[in-house]
Amino acid sequence: MSAFITFEGPEGSGKTTVLQQVALKLEATFDTIVTREPGGVATGEQIREILLEGEGMDERTEALLFAASRREHLVGKIMPALEQGKIVLCDRYIDSSLAYQGYARGIGVEEVKAINDFAINGLYPDLTIYLDVSVEVGRQRIVTNLRQQNRLDQEDIAFHEQVVEGYHKVIESDTSRFNVIDADQSIEQVVDATYKSILKYLGKL
Ligand code: TYD
Repeated sequence: MSAFITFEGPEGSGKTTVLQQVALKLEATFDTIVTREPGGVATGEQIREILLEGEGMDERTEALLFAASRREHLVGKIMPALEQGKIVLCDRYIDSSLAYQGYARGIGVEEVKAINDFAINGLYPDLTIYLDVSVEVGRQRIVTNLRQQNRLDQEDIAFHEQVVEGYHKVIESDTSRFNVIDADQSIEQVVDATYKSILKYLGKL
């Protein structure tokens, strides 16, 4: 039984930690892979390098490159794993582009959805876990994570708030695919709630 499950959330939602811990639990029972774009797929990696290096890159170019890298990862890694009956857990997918490029960067959610629909060609996730962190808790976690660098300016905070707002708009417009988890709880509680929600989706709870 294959399933394509994506994890979404703003910085400070605990997404990467939660994903790793949930994957460990699922692996005990299911043939599971964890991945994130560009996921070791050669062309996807090259596209991502351009994204990282491009200083002052045009916002629409950035959105197109994310979508292109997404397609390479989808075709090169996600589709083969699904064909082999695996559970694919993917750290960020189309909804990151909708929230970050579409809403927070201001390109427009519908515009960014259009190029991503072209890129994924109907392969929407079966289930999307959204780690719903409040702006306050998210900001606190970012500050704690970055304490050594000691840098979180007003622009970062405003952008973070825009990302959270963007995700909420995306979820409101497509509620059936999302499972919203309260990510203000402790990481242990978030892991537990996420794991149970996936088991329920898989019909094992
Ligand atoms: P990363 O440091 O890997 O962050 P995280 O652990 O939060 O996933 O960086 C990914 C960054 O790229 C993050 O700030 C979100 C951003 N991003 C987009 O803006 N659009 C996208 O389509 C994707 C996949 C990521």
